[in-house]
Amino acid sequence: MRELTPETITDAVLDQMATTPDPRMREVLAVAVKHLHAFAREVNLTPAEWIRGIEFMTAVGKMCTPERQEFILLSDTLGLSALVNGLHDGTAIEEGTHTSLLGPFYRETSPKLAPGSQIARTVKPGSECALYGRVTDVNGKPLANATVSVWQTGADGLYDIQESATAIDYRGVFTTDADGVYLVRTVKPVGYSIPMDGPVGGMVKAQARHGMRPAHIHFLVAAPGYRELVTALYLRDDPHLADDVVFGSSGDLAVDLDANDPNCPIKGLPSIHFDLRLSREGAADRASGRVGSDPAAILRPPARADHGSSPASAPAAS
Ligand code: BEZ
Ligand code: FE
Repeated sequence: MRELTPETITDAVLDQMATTPDPRMREVLAVAVKHLHAFAREVNLTPAEWIRGIEFMTAVGKMCTPERQEFILLSDTLGLSALVNGLHDGTAIEEGTHTSLLGPFYRETSPKLAPGSQIARTVKPGSECALYGRVTDVNGKPLANATVSVWQTGADGLYDIQESATAIDYRGVFTTDADGVYLVRTVKPVGYSIPMDGPVGGMVKAQARHGMRPAHIHFLVAAPGYRELVTALYLRDDPHLADDVVFGSSGDLAVDLDANDPNCPIKGLPSIHFDLRLSREGAADRASGRVGSDPAAILRPPARADHGSSPASAPAAS
């Protein structure tokens, strides 16, 4: 029998786990164990530190409810969600608009709205703007009847769900017209702090990070035969564009709020114009590309045999 030491324990674990029948599970867990062990060796992890880590992860789990997903927030603040999004973009068969964070505030229950509808229930004078563009394939061919789900915070920097578990506000599902055009009436997005009252906020504060996201509007775009796109547009002049606490803002997704856009379909409103390009669907698109989902969907009992038909991989909310 081999002697178990900090140098031999990793191979002993890998040998025992080599019986895992599912090849992908075998690969993922083997590499996870290698890196976890390497991490513990590199920092010379003490028992007290590891118990502290376990307490932290326990607190993250206890914070999760149908309205709040603290694990998504942890993944986001560690840059893991943005990394997984970037890896996902690399598996597309064509390069479309890049993915950005879904975040913990997406809802499957957004209302379907007519083109040009206002998504905010209350609008202060001077706060409105138009959001429009085309959904196309990567060659610019317009995609009619694509579903464009959008969501954002109100002027207070809070999502509807943070104010009340059942409220629906600042979100809607639109459909593109025959020229692939989507048109949304909304209010100017604002920068906001991620929820700082839980264990992830505690971590962010302990790291002396500011916890802010730059002003943005989320999109989930779907069209039959095309890869679902989860992305967001970020206001270029936001002071936190370059240091988003969750690493979602990226230069290619930065937009201007144009006060004098002659092409704005809603005259007199400042506008954000952005065309969204979708890749055709490839083999990698049988599984959902979303990092996260509606938290209520995560907590729903797993009454599904097949991941392809799970709520998290269903088309945009209807
Ligand atoms: C959001 O943009 O909704 C979001 C993303 C990550 C963490 C918190 C909020
Ligand atoms: Fe957001």
